[in-house]
Amino acid sequence: MTKEEKTQLYSLLKTVSDSLYGHKSPDFPDEIPIFEDDMVQVQAETTETQNTASTNAAQSESVSSAGGNSATSTIDNISSKIRECKRCQLCASRKQTVPGMGVEKPFVLVIGEGPGEEEDKQGLPFVGPAGQLLDKMLAAIQLYRNKNCYIANIVKCRPPMNRNPMPEEADACRPFLDAQIAALKPKAILCAGSVAVKNLFHINDGVMKLHGQVLDYKGIPVVTTWHPSALLRAPENKRPAWEDLKIFKSELLKLDPNYDK
Ligand code: URA
Repeated sequence: MTKEEKTQLYSLLKTVSDSLYGHKSPDFPDEIPIFEDDMVQVQAETTETQNTASTNAAQSESVSSAGGNSATSTIDNISSKIRECKRCQLCASRKQTVPGMGVEKPFVLVIGEGPGEEEDKQGLPFVGPAGQLLDKMLAAIQLYRNKNCYIANIVKCRPPMNRNPMPEEADACRPFLDAQIAALKPKAILCAGSVAVKNLFHINDGVMKLHGQVLDYKGIPVVTTWHPSALLRAPENKRPAWEDLKIFKSELLKLDPNYDK
């Protein structure tokens, strides 16, 4: 069985098990176990990639040098680099990459987890059912992707069966997120869900512990709330999510008292 087939089977069994339990089954952790033979296969699969793209460090350099250096790379340059990316195994199963979308000088950067099925089809972030809820959450605090936000993800390619990105996938994609933050210079960041906050800060605490707190990422205030997909699954969290958004809005008003006008 290939790694891809194992991953798909695991995701299927996890979905069935989670729904039988009525909550996350302890038998199937979010993080998919990696077996030794998988690693050998992943290495073989990525050899071709590595031949064309050299080391991560060099790749990182090529991302940041897309427009001279990370501070001067335009978001379009970064998106072009993402579109040709083959840094990790997700390139094999994606239909297309999803670099991100929004305005060039956003007030707020929203960070999600990774593209789902609809995003993979359209090449745009948060355009499925979760995206519709995200747009409503943002509009409730006067944020709009075509006016004052940019929406990006931890990984820019769809993980098969919408599983969480694996650490090596998030790591491979990280230079793109770093380059996006450097180019966009958002005044504040909203993390949608645990995957976003854990990966942004490289920490183990997720949304249950951190939601509503104002964290600091290199001088940028960051608030975390539930991922809209999680809210669609567990609507009882919409009320605390609204409290998080109000906290985020009060931070935004400190940065610009007129942003909501
Ligand atoms: N979920 C995400 O985290 N990101 C998307 O772009 C879509 C769904």
